[in-house]
Amino acid sequence: MRRAQHTLFGLWAVLGLGIAWAEGAPVWAAEGDAANAELLYKTYCVQCHGATGKGNGINVRDMSVQPRDHTDAAGMVGLSDDRLFKAIKEGGPAVTKSVLMPPWAGVLTDEEVHGLVRHLRVLCACEGRG
Ligand code: HEC
Repeated sequence: MRRAQHTLFGLWAVLGLGIAWAEGAPVWAAEGDAANAELLYKTYCVQCHGATGKGNGINVRDMSVQPRDHTDAAGMVGLSDDRLFKAIKEGGPAVTKSVLMPPWAGVLTDEEVHGLVRHLRVLCACEGRG
């Protein structure tokens, strides 16, 4: 009888964990997306846009057009999310900007580009009005 109770308790514990996990999953997924976007930014964008997004990366000394300061809310509110998405996916020329802003379509999925747009909104602490 003791053994049976034990087994039953174990089963409930496993079931309980399963339910907790299922309920927790969407939250974890959202946090995961944000963390992933930050990692992508640190991997692909910082050499030009700077470690904190201020547009002062290691490359800028030799660049004829300076990267955008992503923390500049006054400038970033004028750019809609669609515009940011297009600039990242298709590169500067797609939004009549410099070729020095590379297209990332071959490297990043649409979902990852969307994640980066959200990350830029965190960096500027602003929403686009454009
Ligand atoms: C090789 C340097 C370089 C890299 C790497 C780079 N950028 Fe840029 N980016 C630029 C430059 C230069 C501009 C400014 C273009 C201009 O003003 O004509 C720019 C502009 C932008 C803009 C503003 C476009 C607009 O509409 O004004 C966004 C958004 C942007 N970059 C996002 C990113 C993201 C996200 C990444 C990483 C996935 C990235 N950039 C990587 C150089 C770079």
